[in-house]
Amino acid sequence: MESAWWQDCIVYQIYPRSFQDSDHDGVGDLQGIIRRLDYIKSLGVDAIWLNPIFVSPMMDLGYDIADYRNIDPLFGTLGDAELLIEKAHELSLKVIFDLVLNHTSNEHPWFLESRESRDSDKADYYIWSDTVPNNWKAAFGGKGWTFDKQRGQYFFHSFLPQQPDLNWRNPAVADSLLDEVRFWLDKGVDGFRLDSINAIIKDDALRNNPRNYRRKLRSYDKQHHIFDRNRPESHSKLKMLRRLIDTYPDRMLIGEILVESPGEPEVAASYLGSTGDELNLSFDFSLITTRFSAAKWQRSAKRWYEAVGRHRTPAWVLNNHDVSRSISRFKNNEQKARLAAFFLFTQRGAIFMYYGEELGLRNSFVCRKDMHDPLGRRYWPFSKGRDPQRGPMLWNVGANHGFTEGSPWLPFAKNANSCTVENQELEKDSMLTLYRSLIRLRSKEHVLRMGVCDFLELKNTNLMAYTRTLEEACLLMLLNFSPKAQSASRAELGLQSSAGEEIFSTASPSARPRFSSDAVLLDGYEAVVFRLA
Ligand code: GLC
Ligand code: MG
Repeated sequence: MESAWWQDCIVYQIYPRSFQDSDHDGVGDLQGIIRRLDYIKSLGVDAIWLNPIFVSPMMDLGYDIADYRNIDPLFGTLGDAELLIEKAHELSLKVIFDLVLNHTSNEHPWFLESRESRDSDKADYYIWSDTVPNNWKAAFGGKGWTFDKQRGQYFFHSFLPQQPDLNWRNPAVADSLLDEVRFWLDKGVDGFRLDSINAIIKDDALRNNPRNYRRKLRSYDKQHHIFDRNRPESHSKLKMLRRLIDTYPDRMLIGEILVESPGEPEVAASYLGSTGDELNLSFDFSLITTRFSAAKWQRSAKRWYEAVGRHRTPAWVLNNHDVSRSISRFKNNEQKARLAAFFLFTQRGAIFMYYGEELGLRNSFVCRKDMHDPLGRRYWPFSKGRDPQRGPMLWNVGANHGFTEGSPWLPFAKNANSCTVENQELEKDSMLTLYRSLIRLRSKEHVLRMGVCDFLELKNTNLMAYTRTLEEACLLMLLNFSPKAQSASRAELGLQSSAGEEIFSTASPSARPRFSSDAVLLDGYEAVVFRLA
């Protein structure tokens, strides 16, 4: 059977504020992205995903939508969005928009009408209560219930009070949202990243969440979110969304599934539907919180593969706009970042990468007064918020790194000069060159995209090995998670008789021989691909 594009795609996530400014206001915009499409195409990726660009008061930088059908002037116009879709399609790049269907902005006309009176047309579009009915908390701090003077009732919000949660139990709400989705489907958008999609249905009896006794910073994390997330009824809503997008050819849904740390891959997989009839893809963020070690990453990846199963597609991600950049998590160790990239691009399924990741772009340092993220402002200095991983893209070493001719909305990363596209394009050993060659390898070797992944158990715990198999094709990946040279026995790797042809390495050719009579040798943090006969 032929595979659908999303089953083996590489998606490049763009934080629109930080990619390319075109009107000198220091904030990236759609015309800027259009200007950089050739660069994106040159990476070899298949699709772009844009964080929300819709009309918004920006209390949560666009995750508070006031009009689903229009573009915020900060980013451009509806015409710019149409042009972006058209230009991307000309380059055979798919376009994924970020839709927030769990909540709207409190400036959305639905909310304005809903708060007006208890018998307005939109009275039941949100979750209202006469009293504070339970202990639910808001992810961005404080109680989940806020009193609205106008209506004289409390409303529920999973995030900021300016982000009231929609009442998906009201069929009219679901209908209205489907109309908004249809609007963009008709404009040719190929896919949607659905924000916090497992939170859309709340417990019908609004029961209290049980206490979580882990020591956590946010009061939100001191609860098990069993009544304000993952309600069984949410699955039927996702099926409904899937039915809608399947009336159009080649569209897809990827969901952000909020889970308890360090990760619940089984929950993320459950939203794919038992027969693959809910989300096309869902995010499992476990790897992001898993300590960098061969054994731990292997356990995490195996668990995700098992949860998803062979008949459905796993999505893989190391970076996004909500978490510290991986190179910063690795304490700026580039070798680790290179190994992580190798791991990422040699997995089965859909791969998500975050702008700048291909340069080894680090977190920016953002001081309190320059902070935009509501989470950072609330929890500083205990948390630095999410601004650091949203710093501007680095195009060149010139003024403002080619990002803007104005003053950038967030500071550049510290190591900016060594991390520009312009520099790294010229360097044989740069991160950018590695990303490009990994992506090229993946596009050449069909087995890397679709082949089944089987992990080997090796005696040397610094190493990880897995095969990828599809029909006659079989590749063996060997990764060294330690800074020192390591070896594995050829017998263990099944490289016994014929040596196995080496087709790729993350290291520059080493003086050391690869094979001894009974072992395979890898440099520190090196990763290699062998073709097995
Ligand atoms: C998701 C987004 C995050 C946003 C939140 C509220 O987790 O990824 O950036 O703040 O939802 O919409
Ligand atoms: Mg701009």
